[in-house]
Amino acid sequence: MSPSGNGPEERYTAAPFVPEGAGLDALRRAAAGCRGCPLHRNATQTVFGAGRAGARVMLVGEQPGDQEDRQGRPFVGPAGRLLDRALAEAGLDPADAYVTNAVKHFKFTRAEPRKRRIHKAPTLREATACGPWLAAELALVEPELIVVLGATAGKALLGSSFRVGEVRGTVLEREIHGRPERLVPTVHPSSVLRARDEDRDAAYEGLVADLNVAAHALG
Ligand code: URA
Repeated sequence: MSPSGNGPEERYTAAPFVPEGAGLDALRRAAAGCRGCPLHRNATQTVFGAGRAGARVMLVGEQPGDQEDRQGRPFVGPAGRLLDRALAEAGLDPADAYVTNAVKHFKFTRAEPRKRRIHKAPTLREATACGPWLAAELALVEPELIVVLGATAGKALLGSSFRVGEVRGTVLEREIHGRPERLVPTVHPSSVLRARDEDRDAAYEGLVADLNVAAHALG
Protein backbone atom coordinates (compact mmCIF):
# COMPACT_ATOMS: atom_id res chain seq x y z
CA MET A 1 0.00 0.00 0.00
CA SER A 2 1.62 3.26 -1.03
CA PRO A 3 1.44 6.15 1.46
CA SER A 4 0.24 8.42 -1.34
CA GLY A 5 -2.45 6.08 -2.69
CA ASN A 6 -4.90 7.46 -0.14
CA GLY A 7 -7.86 5.21 -0.84
CA PRO A 8 -10.71 5.60 1.63
CA GLU A 9 -9.66 2.69 3.90
CA GLU A 10 -5.96 3.32 3.55
CA ARG A 11 -4.04 4.14 6.70
CA TYR A 12 -2.55 7.62 6.48
CA THR A 13 0.88 8.00 8.05
CA ALA A 14 3.91 10.22 7.76
CA ALA A 15 6.15 7.46 9.15
CA PRO A 16 7.83 6.46 5.82
CA PHE A 17 8.83 10.10 5.24
CA VAL A 18 10.55 10.67 8.62
CA PRO A 19 14.30 10.07 8.28
CA GLU A 20 15.98 8.22 11.13
CA GLY A 21 18.76 9.93 13.05
CA ALA A 22 18.05 13.31 11.46
CA GLY A 23 18.46 16.69 13.18
CA LEU A 24 15.78 19.38 13.08
CA ASP A 25 17.00 20.93 9.82
CA ALA A 26 17.03 17.58 8.02
CA LEU A 27 13.60 16.75 9.44
CA ARG A 28 12.26 20.08 8.18
CA ARG A 29 13.62 19.37 4.68
CA ALA A 30 12.12 15.87 4.69
CA ALA A 31 8.76 17.16 5.94
CA ALA A 32 8.58 19.42 2.88
CA GLY A 33 8.06 16.27 0.80
CA CYS A 34 5.57 14.54 3.12
CA ARG A 35 2.72 12.79 1.32
CA GLY A 36 1.52 10.81 4.32
CA CYS A 37 -2.08 12.03 4.02
CA PRO A 38 -4.05 13.97 1.40
CA LEU A 39 -3.63 17.41 3.03
CA HIS A 40 -0.44 18.16 1.09
CA ARG A 41 -2.45 18.34 -2.12
CA ASN A 42 -4.13 21.68 -1.52
CA ALA A 43 -1.72 23.30 0.91
CA THR A 44 1.01 25.64 -0.35
CA GLN A 45 3.74 23.99 1.70
CA THR A 46 4.53 22.00 4.82
CA VAL A 47 4.74 24.23 7.88
CA PHE A 48 7.24 22.56 10.16
CA GLY A 49 8.05 23.59 13.73
CA ALA A 50 10.25 26.61 14.45
CA GLY A 51 12.78 26.96 17.23
CA ARG A 52 15.86 25.19 18.48
CA ALA A 53 16.64 21.80 19.96
CA GLY A 54 16.87 22.21 23.73
CA ALA A 55 14.14 24.87 23.95
CA ARG A 56 12.61 24.58 27.44
CA VAL A 57 9.01 24.88 26.23
CA MET A 58 7.29 23.34 23.23
CA LEU A 59 4.02 24.94 22.13
CA VAL A 60 1.79 22.63 20.10
CA GLY A 61 -1.07 24.12 18.07
CA GLU A 62 -3.58 22.58 15.70
CA GLN A 63 -2.51 23.23 12.12
CA PRO A 64 -1.13 26.16 10.13
CA GLY A 65 -3.62 28.84 9.12
CA ASP A 66 -3.82 30.88 5.94
CA GLN A 67 -0.86 33.15 6.78
CA GLU A 68 1.27 30.29 8.05
CA ASP A 69 0.58 28.31 4.87
CA ARG A 70 1.77 31.24 2.76
CA GLN A 71 4.81 32.11 4.88
CA GLY A 72 5.87 28.58 5.84
CA ARG A 73 6.18 29.34 9.57
CA PRO A 74 3.86 28.44 12.47
CA PHE A 75 1.86 31.05 14.36
CA VAL A 76 2.73 34.10 12.27
CA GLY A 77 -0.91 35.18 11.72
CA PRO A 78 -3.48 36.75 14.06
CA ALA A 79 -3.61 33.76 16.45
CA GLY A 80 0.18 33.83 16.70
CA ARG A 81 0.26 37.53 17.51
CA LEU A 82 -2.29 37.01 20.28
CA LEU A 83 -0.33 34.01 21.56
CA ASP A 84 2.93 36.00 21.65
CA ARG A 85 1.23 38.74 23.67
CA ALA A 86 -0.23 36.23 26.13
CA LEU A 87 3.11 34.41 26.49
CA ALA A 88 4.92 37.66 27.21
CA GLU A 89 2.30 38.60 29.83
CA ALA A 90 2.84 35.25 31.51
CA GLY A 91 6.61 35.82 31.53
CA LEU A 92 7.41 33.30 28.80
CA ASP A 93 9.62 34.51 25.96
CA PRO A 94 8.09 33.37 22.62
CA ALA A 95 11.56 33.52 21.07
CA ASP A 96 12.76 30.84 23.54
CA ALA A 97 9.98 28.38 22.73
CA TYR A 98 9.84 25.68 20.07
CA VAL A 99 6.55 26.26 18.25
CA THR A 100 4.83 23.62 16.17
CA ASN A 101 1.49 22.12 15.21
CA ALA A 102 -0.10 18.68 15.49
CA VAL A 103 -0.82 18.83 11.73
CA LYS A 104 1.76 20.33 9.37
CA HIS A 105 -0.45 21.22 6.40
CA PHE A 106 -3.24 23.82 6.16
CA LYS A 107 -6.68 22.27 5.69
CA PHE A 108 -9.32 24.58 4.31
CA THR A 109 -12.48 24.90 2.27
CA ARG A 110 -13.60 27.64 -0.11
CA ALA A 111 -17.19 28.77 -0.23
CA GLU A 112 -16.70 29.47 -3.95
CA PRO A 113 -13.75 29.12 -6.33
CA ARG A 114 -11.19 31.92 -5.82
CA LYS A 115 -12.93 32.95 -2.59
CA ARG A 116 -11.13 33.28 0.76
CA ARG A 117 -9.78 30.04 2.23
CA ILE A 118 -11.67 29.01 5.35
CA HIS A 119 -9.93 26.93 8.00
CA LYS A 120 -11.32 23.42 8.39
CA ALA A 121 -10.42 21.38 11.48
CA PRO A 122 -8.26 18.34 10.72
CA THR A 123 -9.69 14.93 11.54
CA LEU A 124 -8.18 12.70 14.21
CA ARG A 125 -7.04 10.44 11.37
CA GLU A 126 -5.05 13.31 9.82
CA ALA A 127 -3.60 14.36 13.17
CA THR A 128 -2.59 10.76 13.89
CA ALA A 129 -0.98 10.48 10.46
CA CYS A 130 1.14 13.54 11.26
CA GLY A 131 2.12 12.13 14.70
CA PRO A 132 5.53 10.78 13.61
CA TRP A 133 6.70 14.35 12.87
CA LEU A 134 5.63 15.53 16.31
CA ALA A 135 7.27 12.49 17.92
CA ALA A 136 10.52 13.26 16.08
CA GLU A 137 10.37 16.93 17.13
CA LEU A 138 9.78 15.94 20.77
CA ALA A 139 12.71 13.51 20.72
CA LEU A 140 15.06 16.19 19.38
CA VAL A 141 13.86 19.26 21.28
CA GLU A 142 13.42 17.41 24.60
CA PRO A 143 11.37 20.23 26.12
CA GLU A 144 10.90 20.47 29.87
CA LEU A 145 7.25 21.33 29.31
CA ILE A 146 4.69 21.08 26.51
CA VAL A 147 1.95 23.70 26.25
CA VAL A 148 -1.00 22.06 24.52
CA LEU A 149 -3.03 24.63 22.58
CA GLY A 150 -6.59 23.39 22.13
CA ALA A 151 -8.43 20.18 21.39
CA THR A 152 -6.66 18.96 18.24
CA ALA A 153 -3.22 19.17 19.86
CA GLY A 154 -4.65 17.62 23.03
CA LYS A 155 -6.17 14.66 21.22
CA ALA A 156 -3.01 14.16 19.15
CA LEU A 157 -0.83 14.06 22.28
CA LEU A 158 -3.14 12.70 24.98
CA GLY A 159 -5.75 10.65 23.13
CA SER A 160 -9.23 11.10 21.76
CA SER A 161 -10.86 11.43 25.20
CA PHE A 162 -8.99 14.71 25.82
CA ARG A 163 -11.30 17.60 26.82
CA VAL A 164 -9.55 20.93 27.18
CA GLY A 165 -12.13 22.28 29.64
CA GLU A 166 -11.43 19.43 32.07
CA VAL A 167 -7.66 19.84 32.32
CA ARG A 168 -6.73 23.35 31.22
CA GLY A 169 -4.31 25.17 33.51
CA THR A 170 -3.10 21.99 35.23
CA VAL A 171 0.26 20.24 34.99
CA LEU A 172 -0.17 16.72 33.59
CA GLU A 173 2.52 14.05 33.64
CA ARG A 174 2.15 11.48 30.87
CA GLU A 175 4.23 9.23 28.70
CA ILE A 176 4.10 10.57 25.15
CA HIS A 177 5.73 8.69 22.30
CA GLY A 178 7.74 6.72 24.85
CA ARG A 179 9.03 9.72 26.81
CA PRO A 180 7.84 11.01 30.19
CA GLU A 181 6.50 14.52 29.56
CA ARG A 182 4.95 17.34 31.58
CA LEU A 183 2.15 19.16 29.80
CA VAL A 184 -0.04 22.19 30.49
CA PRO A 185 -3.16 22.27 28.30
CA THR A 186 -4.96 25.49 27.47
CA VAL A 187 -7.37 26.83 24.90
CA HIS A 188 -6.33 27.56 21.36
CA PRO A 189 -5.60 31.28 20.85
CA SER A 190 -8.03 31.31 17.88
CA SER A 191 -10.86 30.57 20.32
CA VAL A 192 -10.07 33.88 22.04
CA LEU A 193 -10.25 35.67 18.67
CA ARG A 194 -13.57 33.96 17.92
CA ALA A 195 -15.12 34.75 21.33
CA ARG A 196 -18.04 37.20 21.40
CA ASP A 197 -16.95 40.79 22.01
CA GLU A 198 -18.27 40.75 25.57
CA ASP A 199 -16.45 37.47 26.37
CA ARG A 200 -13.12 38.14 24.67
CA ASP A 201 -11.29 39.83 27.57
CA ALA A 202 -12.19 37.00 29.96
CA ALA A 203 -11.16 34.39 27.38
CA TYR A 204 -7.81 36.14 26.95
CA GLU A 205 -7.26 36.39 30.71
CA GLY A 206 -8.02 32.67 30.98
CA LEU A 207 -5.34 31.90 28.40
CA VAL A 208 -2.82 34.09 30.26
CA ALA A 209 -3.72 32.40 33.58
CA ASP A 210 -3.05 28.94 32.06
CA LEU A 211 0.24 30.16 30.60
CA ASN A 212 1.16 31.47 34.06
CA VAL A 213 0.76 27.90 35.33
CA ALA A 214 3.20 26.81 32.60
CA ALA A 215 5.66 29.58 33.55
CA HIS A 216 5.58 28.53 37.22
CA ALA A 217 5.97 24.85 36.34
CA LEU A 218 9.15 25.77 34.48
CA GLY A 219 10.47 27.58 37.55
N1 URA B 1 -3.28 28.07 14.47
C1 URA B 1 -2.52 27.00 14.78
O1 URA B 1 -2.93 26.08 15.47
N2 URA B 1 -1.28 26.99 14.34
C2 URA B 1 -0.74 27.96 13.61
O2 URA B 1 0.41 27.84 13.25
C3 URA B 1 -1.57 29.06 13.30
C4 URA B 1 -2.83 29.09 13.74
